[in-house]
This record gives sequence, C-alpha cells and structure tokens, in this order.
Amino acid sequence: MLFSSLVTVFTAFALALPAVAFPFADRFLEKRIPALPVAVTTVHEFAFPSWCENLAVRANGQILVTRLDTPEVILVSPTNAFAPVTIATWNATAYKGALGITETNADIFEVVLSANVDEDFVKTSGVPAVYKINMNTFAYSGSTITSNATVSLTTEIPTADFLNGATTLDTIHVLVADAYNGWVYKVNTLTGAYSIAIDNALMKHPSGGPNLGVNGLKIRNSYLYWTNTGVGTVNKIKITSAGTASGASSVVATVSRPDDFIFKSNGAIFVPQNQLDELSYIAPGASTSTVIAGSSTSTLLAGVTSAQFGRLSSDSNRLYLATSGGKFLLLICDIVTKLIGHRSCGAD
Ligand SMILES: *[C@@H]1O[C@H](CO)[C@@H](O)[C@H](O)[C@H]1NC(C)=O
Ligand SMILES: *[C@@H]1O[C@H](CO)[C@@H](O)[C@H](O)[C@H]1NC(C)=O
Repeated sequence: MLFSSLVTVFTAFALALPAVAFPFADRFLEKRIPALPVAVTTVHEFAFPSWCENLAVRANGQILVTRLDTPEVILVSPTNAFAPVTIATWNATAYKGALGITETNADIFEVVLSANVDEDFVKTSGVPAVYKINMNTFAYSGSTITSNATVSLTTEIPTADFLNGATTLDTIHVLVADAYNGWVYKVNTLTGAYSIAIDNALMKHPSGGPNLGVNGLKIRNSYLYWTNTGVGTVNKIKITSAGTASGASSVVATVSRPDDFIFKSNGAIFVPQNQLDELSYIAPGASTSTVIAGSSTSTLLAGVTSAQFGRLSSDSNRLYLATSGGKFLLLICDIVTKLIGHRSCGAD
C-alpha cells in the first residue's frame, strides 16, 4: 500500500549547494554542481502525522515552519540547538492548516490560514484568513517560552477558496495566492483591506484538474513570479509598485507539478515538486528545468513543498526544504483515480 510505505515523515531538509555561488554562464554553473543529485540531509523529522507546508527564515537563522495538517506554526533550529517550539496554534475545526508565510517587517510575518477544503480543494466550511505573527515579543530560555509571539488576525477573506502561497509586496502589503480561483489578493496588513490585485489566465488550474492553479508567489525585479501546480509552469508578469499588472504574463519555464519555489540571488530558481518528490533547478534565464534531488521512487524528498535559503553567512548557500512526508502522493492518486479511472496509485 502506497501510504504505509511512506509513513516515515521527513519534514525539513538542508540541501548543501556548492560553496561557490553562481557567477558565470549557465554552462559553468552546471559544472559547479559537483554531482547530481545534490546531497540532502535531515534537519528535523516531525512525528507522524505532520505536513510541513511552508518556511520563513528569521534574520537570526531560525526557521518558522507552517503545518497544513493542523493549523500551527513551529520554530525550528537549523542546527538543532533546541527542540521545535510551537509558536502559534489556531482552531483546527475552523482552519484546515497554515500555508504561505512571509516577513513584512523585521521579525513580523503574515501567515495564510486555509478554511476547510475537500480533496478537490473546494471550500467546505470556515473562512480563509491571514494572521500576523510578531516574533519581536517572543523569548525562549532553557526550553521555556518566557514571552509569547504576538498573534493577531490581519483579515478574513470570505471570497477566497483555497489560499496558499504568500509574498511581501512592501512593508504594509502582502500578495496571497488563491490556488482554486486562480487569482492573487493584495492584503493591507495594517487595515485588513484586501482586493483581487491580479487575475490572470496563467493562474488558472487546468480544466481537467487538479484544481490547483497559482501556488507559490515571489517578487523579483518588478515582476511577480508564480507556480501553477496543475498546469506545471513557472510564470511571470510585470507589476507596478501597487501590485497590479503592468504587462502581459508569460511562461518562464515548464516544471511538472511545481509547489512553492525560491530564487537564489543570481536569479536561479529552485522548484520543489511536491507530488513528484523531486526538487528541480532552473538556471538564470533558462526555460528548462533539471531535477537535482529526490525522485518519485524515493522517500528522500517525499512531498517536498517549499524551500528557503539560510540567512546567515554560515548557511546562505544552504537550501532548507519542507516536506509533507509524501502524503500528497496519496491525495493526488485519489484524484487521478477519479479522473482517469486508475484503480490503484501505481508502484511507488
Ligand atoms: C472552533 O471553530 C468552530 C467552528 O467554527 C467553532 O464552532 C468553535 O466554537 C471554535 N472553538 C473555539 C474554542 O473557539
Ligand atoms: C503563552 O501562551 C500560552 C497559550 O496561550 C499560555 O499557556 C502561556 O502561559 C503563555 N506564556 C507566557 C509566558 O505568557
């Protein structure tokens, strides 16, 4: 049975990248990756069941991990200097889980909370929301929280269906992806005001499903980039400083089943492929991708969902990855079963 063989839940990995950054042309870059697949080591393995969905790295190097199986945000030490600490929990009846997380001001984060959705990502109950986590009030000493992070509701978004990725537009505004509806909200994190900022054809899920369109979001050089999970693309559109489109959208590269993604400073893109258990790499300016870690026949990167580079000089070349432990494989197999009549989930 597929799932029982994937019960071991690996949930945060460090991926060692070549120490030399990528200064030259793509062909040099390829040579500077010493061997593929690149080495992956476990930072922390969470108890079953746990689905790590997204990551934000604090300026001090610690990692905030969102959980999708239950609405929680957990603080993880990349060096295991302390055991994971639960920073925030929400009502698990009202929310399916926590997803995108993005820093707006020093140690202040906005995090997406999903309403309950069914296996086709159709909202069944509850109201999607965005919350603020202020880590400036958090203090931890000798395995005891001496002062909590301050968690507050930024806004509910009743018109949203399945909120997923998030990115920071400026110190006041974040952009949040609605993967089911295929559009992006702009949220004022001070007032809670929100509106659909970008609604683009390349954000829509494929008509045959799965019902996951726009997923991860990143802004770079006045372009909004996003993955479309169902279609299998990384896309971009030029945006104004107000977060609205100021050009036509285009496909940057095709990548099968992309989840959230991350840029390296040189423009390279690393794309976790949750449903394939792989991590792909798009060289700066390239339109093709290369698998650099994981495989669909391995649990090494089972259900890899998102990636962030370290922020310290000691780990700025290290890519941290969150994984679901492969739970998504089962979910997607269920969808495939329904759509094209496969009787089982295959040989994984
Ligand atoms: C949790 O949410 C459910 C559903 O919205 C609600 O009925 C319940 O009262 C909430 N529980 C708490 C402790 O707020
Ligand atoms: C932190 O919040 C938890 C949960 O609300 C509470 O039980 C605990 O007493 C708080 N800790 C401090 C130091 O205020």
